[in-house]
Amino acid sequence: MPDGSRPRTPVAAASALFPPREERRRLDDRLTDALLTAEARVAGGPVTPTIDLAAFGGELAGFDFTVPLPLDALLQWTIARLEEGVTQVTHPRYFGLFNPAPTFPAQCADRIAAAFNPQLATATTSPAAVEIEAHVIRAVARRAGLPEASGGHFTSGGAEANFTALICALTRANPGFAENGARAFTGTPVFYVSNESHLAWFKIAHQAGIGRAAVRLVATDGAGRLDPSVLLAAIAADRAAGHVPVMAVATAGTTNAGMIDPLVACGVACREFGLWCHVDAAWGGALIASDRYRGLLAGLDDADSVTIDAHKWFAATMGCGMFLTRHREVLSTAFQVTTGYMPSNQGGRDPYVTSMQWSRRFVGLRLFLSLAAAGWGGYARHVEHSVEMAALLKAKLARFGWRIPNRSPMAVLCIEPPPRSADVAAIVNRVLASGRAWISKADFEGRPVIRACVTHGETGPEDIAALVEALEAAR
Ligand SMILES: Cc1ncc(COP(=O)(O)O)c(C=O)c1O
Repeated sequence: MPDGSRPRTPVAAASALFPPREERRRLDDRLTDALLTAEARVAGGPVTPTIDLAAFGGELAGFDFTVPLPLDALLQWTIARLEEGVTQVTHPRYFGLFNPAPTFPAQCADRIAAAFNPQLATATTSPAAVEIEAHVIRAVARRAGLPEASGGHFTSGGAEANFTALICALTRANPGFAENGARAFTGTPVFYVSNESHLAWFKIAHQAGIGRAAVRLVATDGAGRLDPSVLLAAIAADRAAGHVPVMAVATAGTTNAGMIDPLVACGVACREFGLWCHVDAAWGGALIASDRYRGLLAGLDDADSVTIDAHKWFAATMGCGMFLTRHREVLSTAFQVTTGYMPSNQGGRDPYVTSMQWSRRFVGLRLFLSLAAAGWGGYARHVEHSVEMAALLKAKLARFGWRIPNRSPMAVLCIEPPPRSADVAAIVNRVLASGRAWISKADFEGRPVIRACVTHGETGPEDIAALVEALEAAR
């Protein structure tokens, strides 16, 4: 009898944690079925949570974990509660932050990764998984126009990738940073981001040990983009004051408004002053898939490093970001550590000595399978479709006198209601209360706006029409 079919001991077979194979198949089939029917119900129901949290709290309190319960019932219970207990990002009328309806190949990747559960710390233990991730990173870097020898890795998301950029910039600016942190610098290390950047930068500066005051917020140009003349003046002033500028960040697709900072001018400023140039393309990076739109990111190819989130416009499941850099040797300097208990320690190869995390899930498989199944062309259509839907929304709203102050080439609109309407917060609250769509409020260049972003690959003209109706009814 081959080893794989040898029956387990009765104790293990009875275990709820490791059910026998036939029982797992039965549970799996029922789970797949329940998830598919739930997805269909979600698409036809409210986008916003409807759960009675008080009752739910009572139900949760009943789980005291003393008596084992049947997994089958637990799975059905969990799906039912999530159906009413979360904002439905898989709903085609979720016009939200960049939480996508995940691609099906990415969902399959999660199952496979969970089943094999490879440890992504070392290439020695998980050679195929590490190679798959490295292959995707090389392909994305190439597509972004970075040199062939570029490197990088998958991250938990954009914030970790941006954190990695700052650590690289500090390490490059002063070889003593690795050993002595901020004390290695003769003045205070500082870096530059725009007012409209993603402000996890404050947390990042704090964690890097250079303090939140190191973040220099550069004014925008009135249209939501970093103003390069203000950047140049700020760097010069900091230098004159004895501070040490280490990095400037251009955002390619601002969180609020989808604006693209002047990447070329930021690169020129960085080179003039010897700063690390990072492009935060967490959302907008997916434009590289489209031949029609990738030119919008001209200058990306000159960056020292780039953040692109696979879990934003590439629609991988959460959390899946990417950090790319033309200076892969800096990663080895920044994250090297030696231990006796790890099976290997290869600077260019083992993820635990070239990135922040140690034990890590095989997240890169999500983008590998999605890219392999759809090709760059499939992603090009995905991105272009979102932009078309946003343009359609803009045109429809204009007919009713709504204004769109952000001129983003991407799939997000900042919306101002027509004169004599209710205020932005009231309109957003009414739309959310109706459950017909999910939108949010934001600020654009100091003005309150309604933010609607097309994040779902299957949002169609009928969903756009429904959102316009909901907005009209709410004003
Ligand atoms: C431009 C930008 N950068 C970084 C981030 C942070 O990414 P994450 O939430 O994946 O950590 C976001 C999130 O929305 C973002 O919009």
